[in-house]
This record gives sequence, C-alpha cells and structure tokens, in this order.
Amino acid sequence: MAQSNRAEELRAENIAVSLRDVSKMYSREAPAVTNADFEVHDGEFVFITGETGSGKSTLLKMIMHELKPTSGEINVLGFDLNRIRHGKIPKFRRNLGIVFQDFRLLRDRNVYENVAFAQRIIQVPGKDIRKNVLDALDMVGLADKYKRKVTQLSGGEQQRVALARALVNKPLLLLADEPTGNLDADTAWDIMQLIERVNEIFGTTVIVVTHDRGIVSRMHKRVVEMKQGEIISDSGEIDPYYEGYDELPDYQDVDADGYEYEE
Ligand SMILES: Nc1ncnc2c1ncn2[C@@H]1O[C@H](COP(=O)(O)OP(=O)(O)OP(=O)(O)O)[C@@H](O)[C@H]1O
Ligand SMILES: [Mg+2]
Repeated sequence: MAQSNRAEELRAENIAVSLRDVSKMYSREAPAVTNADFEVHDGEFVFITGETGSGKSTLLKMIMHELKPTSGEINVLGFDLNRIRHGKIPKFRRNLGIVFQDFRLLRDRNVYENVAFAQRIIQVPGKDIRKNVLDALDMVGLADKYKRKVTQLSGGEQQRVALARALVNKPLLLLADEPTGNLDADTAWDIMQLIERVNEIFGTTVIVVTHDRGIVSRMHKRVVEMKQGEIISDSGEIDPYYEGYDELPDYQDVDADGYEYEE
C-alpha cells in the first residue's frame, strides 16, 4: 500500500502532477525523455518549451497516461499511473481536459455536438448537457455559432470549440500540446488568453506545451525547458494568488538594518 500512500501524500500537499526520475525509451536508441523530475501544484500554469524532438509531447502523453514511462514514478491527481488499474482509467481521464494542435474535432458534427460528445462519454444526464455545453461555448465566445458545422469555422474558432470540449466536464487539469501551433499570432494570443482566464477563474491546473517564445515571454508564467529529453531549466512555481511582483523591492537594495517603515 506504500504506493497509494504516496499518491495520497501528494494530494495532501496539493501537488497535481509529480514526476520522479521519469524516462521514456521508444526503442533502444536515444531516450525521448531522461530522468525527468517535476512537480506542478494545484492551480499552477506551466509552459513546457524546447526545440523539436526534445521530448515535450512524450512528457505530456505520459502525464495523460497515453504512454507509460520506461522507468520512474508518475502521480497525477492522486492516481499513481504506474499502478492504476485498467478499470480506473476512465475515472482518471474524467479529470483531464486535453487540447491538441490539430483540434481533432468531429468534422461531420456541428459545434454543439462536438462539445456535447464529451459530456455523453461521461454519462452526464441529458437534461444537464444542454446547459453545460452552452456555458462552455459561451466561455469561449461561440455560443451564437452552436449550430455551425465545424468545417465552416476558422482555425481559431475550431480551437475554441476544442477548448470548450476540453473544459465542459470541468477538468482539474488542462493539458495542451501546441494549442496555437496552427494559428496566426493574434488568434494564438486570444486562445492563450482564454486558457489563462480558465486557470484564473476556475483554478484549473494548466500545462501548455509550446515553442512559441513570443507567447511564453509575454505571459510571465512558469517555464520548464527541455532539450534532448532532459529538463534543462525550470523557472519555478509562480504563486497564482500573488500579484505585484513588479513592486517587490530588490533584495540588494535592502541594507542589513532592514527597511525603515514610515508610520
Ligand atoms: N512513437 C514514437 N516512436 C519512436 N520514437 C518516437 C515516437 N514519438 C516520438 N519519438 C521520438 O522521441 C523524441 C521526442 O519526441 P517528442 O514528440 O516528444 O518531441 P517534441 O518535443 O514534442 O517535438 P515537437 O516540438 O517536434 O513536437 C524524438 O526523437 C522523436 O523522434
Ligand atoms: Mg510535440
């Protein structure tokens, strides 16, 4: 039972995602991910960046339990993914919202159906689905286009539908792999602002993989950088409730006697 204790311990510490010494080898060639150690607290917003082939998608797929690590421990939302029983996987996935670069919408269905689908999978009562779907579409600014076929939407609108679908089940953790990779710069920024709003309003923990340096530098979030399968830097946790980093005094400016406070 030691392992489930570990999972419980992490929940008690409000750690949503924990990787300990995680490696992934697809073949006997160079590993895709090497000795990754990484924790994400509830409510955090984290970017994962790095050059192509550095292991970003592999890392994300292991967090969503689409891939198993070759070695190491992964705990996500109280589930020990090395030991999760097959029957528990749907229960685990129910807590995740996932967004991909290529939207992955059902092309023969309309906007409403694409979002409602996610609710039907988890067997939400029919009477609740309509409200939940329209709320999710409203949040991404697409409630008025709910009848539209997805093939008649712009790329940015399609990604909004995908985001509504990812959020309609009110996930604890949103995972996005290059969600703005197919969008122009302005549309990309809008989508990223929406994801930020979800993080701020609902406290959803967010992990976004992107190689868009412009967006990363404008957003002022925690940044984890990968290179050749390794995490080479991590800017560290940013307290989501603390505002006003710009106003903090520089430590060098505080002399040994400390500050003199004006009463
Ligand atoms: N299914 C697979 N089978 C074998 N090797 C794979 C597989 N998927 C990825 N790889 C290899 O693992 C390494 C990491 O790939 P990954 O897709 O995680 O990189 P990435 O950082 O997401 O890259 P990109 O920015 O191009 O999406 C690469 O060397 C890649 O060729
Ligand atoms: Mg990738």
